[in-house]
Amino acid sequence: MVSVQTASLLLSFAPLLVLSVPPIWTQPEQVHLSYAGVLGSMVVTWTTFNKTDSKVEYGLQGGRLFEMSAEGDATVFVDSGEEKRKMFIHRVTLTDLKPAATYVYHCGSDEGWSDIFSFTALNSSSSFSPRFALYGDLGNENPQSLARLQKETQLGIYDVILHIGDFAYDMHEDNARIGDEFMRQIQSIAAYVPYMTCPGNHESTYNFSNYRNRFSMPGQTESLWYSWNLGSAHIISFSTEVYFYLEYGMELIFKQYNWLKQDLEEANKPENRAARPWIITMGHRPMYCSDDDQDDCTKFDSWVRVGRNDIKPPAPGLEDLFYHYGVDVELWAHEHTYERLWPVYGDKVYNGSKEQPYVNPKAPVHIITGSAGCRERTDRFNPNPKEWSAFRSTDYGYSRLQVVNTTHIYLEQVSDDQYGKVIDSIWVVKERHGFSAWL
Ligand SMILES: [Fe+2]
Repeated sequence: MVSVQTASLLLSFAPLLVLSVPPIWTQPEQVHLSYAGVLGSMVVTWTTFNKTDSKVEYGLQGGRLFEMSAEGDATVFVDSGEEKRKMFIHRVTLTDLKPAATYVYHCGSDEGWSDIFSFTALNSSSSFSPRFALYGDLGNENPQSLARLQKETQLGIYDVILHIGDFAYDMHEDNARIGDEFMRQIQSIAAYVPYMTCPGNHESTYNFSNYRNRFSMPGQTESLWYSWNLGSAHIISFSTEVYFYLEYGMELIFKQYNWLKQDLEEANKPENRAARPWIITMGHRPMYCSDDDQDDCTKFDSWVRVGRNDIKPPAPGLEDLFYHYGVDVELWAHEHTYERLWPVYGDKVYNGSKEQPYVNPKAPVHIITGSAGCRERTDRFNPNPKEWSAFRSTDYGYSRLQVVNTTHIYLEQVSDDQYGKVIDSIWVVKERHGFSAWL
């Protein structure tokens, strides 16, 4: 016989007992694309919360729907939060895509299919003039530029999106539910164009595990550093965070540095530099900035720029390396502002000429674009910037870049606060590339 007290105790737990039955969760979500770095390829990545197969069915737009299919596999990602939430990250690589052709696809398995999306395979021609949207520091809360980016992406004005670190704020929070919701938010962009990333400081919790597991960049570094080619550009993505989170391995600074050196060496072989003369880097924390916080970039001896002499062995910074190998354009974020620099090296301005600073510049061109929108709002500027600061804005917004041809790159800044107005633009023109172009 159950006592009244026991019965009422059991009844009080009844809602919990009902809630403890987990839903079956085989429906694909958080669909996003990335370029695998091989011509004619595209990676489709998505999430389910139960184990399923990993399939993509696709076909040329206007052709028979889903006439082709490809299979991949899923990795189990267990978030390190106290709930130890488990998810399956599915990856399928499509190959032999026709350059510049548009495909329609869905992903999932016989236990559930996604909505239908489309993408245009990247054009393999070196005369292709790819159009990028780029920004960093876009969060789940207050993602101010997102609606404009969604609309513009769906209108087809971008070939690739570059997200230069700091996602979601933060992906691991609420037992990684913030990460899930952020990946759902960007599906409206990232399921249509390759969404290329690098890690930022907001990804650092649990050794960057949400970032490393959720994205699928080229190479074997779990999306930490990699390079790829598009049109006449060689694009290098790397982690500035190796300089700041030594607890995850000081050796990462050296590993990455050596990889960067090798990659730049290869990109500078005469036949490679002739085919892809532009070298563009993207990393989260800038070497220079004129914000009024105490961030690394506000300091003369920025760790990213000059390295770290406070550790053994001392770790080299990146400014000399990039200068030596003739990196043309360096893209950054982290500061929640937009700042364009005059061509700069060693804290000094090296304009092409007084009248045309970006025509045959004598040092790399730096752009900081970290004002897409997040819960930390925008940052403020130091009222007395150094002479390398050319243009600054605290508006929310993002940048556009087009690698027009082997000699011309166009860059502009969109203000979301001003309803999409272009508030800054430059042409970078280079008749010569590589270290000798500085002389
Ligand atoms: Fe950051």
